[in-house]
Amino acid sequence: MLDEARRLITPSLRSNVPAFMVMDVMAAAARIEEEGGRVIHMEVGQPAVPAPTSAIAAARAALVSGRLGYTETLGIAPLRARIARHYLETYGTDVDPRRVAVTTGSSAAFTLAFLALFEPGDRVAVALPGYPPYRHVLSALGCKPVMIETVQATRWAITPEMLIAEHRKAPLKAPLVASPANPTGTMMPAQALRDLVAAAEGEGINFISDEIYHGLDYAFPAETAAKLSDTAVVINSFSKFFCMTGWRIGWMVLPPALIRSVDRLQGNLAISVPALSQIAALAAFDGRAEMEGVKHGYEENRRILLAGLPKIGFDKILPVDGAFYLYADVSRFCSDSYEFAKHMLTQTHVAVTPGVDFDPLQGSRFIRLCYAGSREEMQEAVERMGRWLK
Ligand SMILES: Cc1ncc(COP(=O)(O)O)c(C=O)c1O
Repeated sequence: MLDEARRLITPSLRSNVPAFMVMDVMAAAARIEEEGGRVIHMEVGQPAVPAPTSAIAAARAALVSGRLGYTETLGIAPLRARIARHYLETYGTDVDPRRVAVTTGSSAAFTLAFLALFEPGDRVAVALPGYPPYRHVLSALGCKPVMIETVQATRWAITPEMLIAEHRKAPLKAPLVASPANPTGTMMPAQALRDLVAAAEGEGINFISDEIYHGLDYAFPAETAAKLSDTAVVINSFSKFFCMTGWRIGWMVLPPALIRSVDRLQGNLAISVPALSQIAALAAFDGRAEMEGVKHGYEENRRILLAGLPKIGFDKILPVDGAFYLYADVSRFCSDSYEFAKHMLTQTHVAVTPGVDFDPLQGSRFIRLCYAGSREEMQEAVERMGRWLK
């Protein structure tokens, strides 16, 4: 029966997107744990602590108070208004609440933005190294991700020159940039972001800014593209700063011309975002002070790693400006960071992600370490890796 079903059903070619290699690392780590080993998890990019207590309390109250139904497609009005106010409070810029669309994590926002902006075949520039789903979702939708390799000289960011050069080869529809970025944790200074937004506007192309790691900036404050242009699509989420990955809630700030398209798309694709998560997200803003405390913990972890890693031989690290990632060049130890990460896991029980997930060209030289765990774990990870590398 199963064999027959397999013959009849052929997955579409567009669904054939690559899987995350980090899943292999996680599976290997789980096997070690089943056998009683204690793994320090630096492979998964998520906070180790729960949502703000204000968010959890609001969700509890909503659960007992009765019915949770569909909501307005673009989100409940108080949440859209609160997100708009966040732009005024944090960046000093006015955003009309009607431009805010609440989404099922920033992940859903990407699909909506791509569908609202692009036709099949459109070319969209993404940075290497970069978050793999950008490329994979664009491909699944029939668009063409154009990978722009970033380099130390440009502080690991796409520059106006790179963007325009690629646009001259064949027209681009938009760049998609993230600052702070994943996997590097590197940020674009405000002027660099301003110049890139201006270059895109000058060429008459769109701009998508993934701001999911905003709030987690240590080197200098992150700038929002919402302040620089009202034609940029700005994407954000409650997953990282607010520690709400499992609640699956995020948002977009849209150019006025896209509001109705996104409304229609989300209405058809999802009807609305889970009501419970919207209620919790609204209350999460009251937990900012608590989340600042969590951020201080990341800052301490960052200090521990930046002091300890160079001493054990990880001395080529990209600028660790924000998010909770550190991207280290391990080419002095190996020619294949996937094998390196595998051996390190089995021999030290420290799990990290090989760079190949994020960069098909240069990733085999790098590993990504997530420092969202505890201070004790960071200290122990440095000790374990140091003993192994000796
Ligand atoms: C750069 C970046 N963008 C977007 C996402 C998606 O997050 P979410 O869908 O939880 O908002 C992630 C998740 O790790 C990420 O690292």
